[in-house]
Amino acid sequence: MDLSGALRAIADCSVLTDADAVAGYVADWTGRWRGGPAIVARPRTAEAVSAVVWACAAAGVPVVPQGGNTGLVAGAVPPAGAVVLSLRGLDAIGEVSDGAVVAGAGVTLAALESFAAARGLTCGLSLASGESATVGGAAATNAGGAEVLRYGSARARIAGLRAVLPDGAVLDRRRPPVKDNTGYDLVGQLVGSEGTLAVITDVTWRLDPAPRARTVLALAFPSPEEAVAAVPVLRGLPGLLALEWSDGAAVARVAAHLDAPAPLPTDGCWVFAEFDGAPEAAGVVAGLLPDDRIAVAGPEDRTRLWRYRSRTTEAVGAAGVPVKLDVGVPLAAFAAAREAVVRAVREVADSAGIAMEPVLFGHLAEGNLHVNLLPGPSAPERGFSEEFAERLEAAVLEQVLALGGTVSAEHGVGRAKRAWLERQRGPEQVALMRRVKDAWDPAGLLNPGAVLEPEVRRRTSGDPGADAR
Ligand code: MLT
Ligand code: ZN
Repeated sequence: MDLSGALRAIADCSVLTDADAVAGYVADWTGRWRGGPAIVARPRTAEAVSAVVWACAAAGVPVVPQGGNTGLVAGAVPPAGAVVLSLRGLDAIGEVSDGAVVAGAGVTLAALESFAAARGLTCGLSLASGESATVGGAAATNAGGAEVLRYGSARARIAGLRAVLPDGAVLDRRRPPVKDNTGYDLVGQLVGSEGTLAVITDVTWRLDPAPRARTVLALAFPSPEEAVAAVPVLRGLPGLLALEWSDGAAVARVAAHLDAPAPLPTDGCWVFAEFDGAPEAAGVVAGLLPDDRIAVAGPEDRTRLWRYRSRTTEAVGAAGVPVKLDVGVPLAAFAAAREAVVRAVREVADSAGIAMEPVLFGHLAEGNLHVNLLPGPSAPERGFSEEFAERLEAAVLEQVLALGGTVSAEHGVGRAKRAWLERQRGPEQVALMRRVKDAWDPAGLLNPGAVLEPEVRRRTSGDPGADAR
């Protein structure tokens, strides 16, 4: 029996091979990364996941685990001939105990948050893509989002998990003792491993008491320097949940996309600060800026103000296929990094005679800059070449590394940033990462080409990642 026949014989699993049906699983949603052709397996139980992984291992076929396919670094874009293992069908949610709930990998973050909210709780992970992004994907990529400063990234939210190993065996740490100091942290190793070590089927997610009533402040600072100078004041206020930023130009883009005029000037740098029921924060903040540069929204209209930040990615996507970078620097270097990034982009664009429009926004509390580069009106109709995109990326990432920053603050490495891993982490750490990969996945069949550059000298099949680009 061929592999698709073997997969079709697995109980609680459907299989897609038709090109149209598979299309949504082999490309990322920005449209920049496309892989395949691939078979898509859609198991509905952990047992079926194990059977799929076992069948692929027996056939020597690579497996690419995939959640909501909302990643931004091509981490779930399959090399040609791989099996995409979609976990969306594992969507059961268990009972809360010891402050955590076991959720199937395919539960969306929105569904988990509704489950939590119905019990006066929150999952503490807020992503703009939460309607599609899944618990398993968030665990596998150590997702961040808007509330990292209050609740931590996914790693801090995860108390346990169950995963299928590359030979089909099951590692079950769904309910480890709450206090358990035995041996290596296998759960911690899988969080953020981007599907390269094991396939996460269930996640034990910590829930916290939900904020009582959310107040959002938008502050339109005339410059990034003034926005950064206000951070210590804002961080000192009680109940701070999120501290985000957007270039005024990015806010203006969202306003035009939504046909909803911005309530404040868009000349400088906006800061969005959300509080847990703390209207008194507005009084403190009043000293930072004149009244006509501050907007406040309570629980009933908070999304109307937040949308000028939360819908930026959507507004960018509506304008074209961006080159997306996700960098981070120490807060003290934030304004300099923003300036250096804009200058580097302009230099590369000018040298190629292609106008580029940087759309800059992100997570101010962590010094995280999302750098989205869109072709300007004078760019060629079909955007830009991969070679040009790589020059832009290199120019930006060199600046960030020179400032002591990171080439990926929250989106991960995937296939898009793997060439930069060693530049940031150094050869010794990358060599150790390879040994970790070999220990978990000696045959190299799990998401090959993600995170680590393929080792052509040891593999017979060449560079599987190259097919995905
Ligand atoms: C965000 O912060 O809005 C997300 O990371 C999405 C993005 O960077 O496009
Ligand atoms: Zn982000």
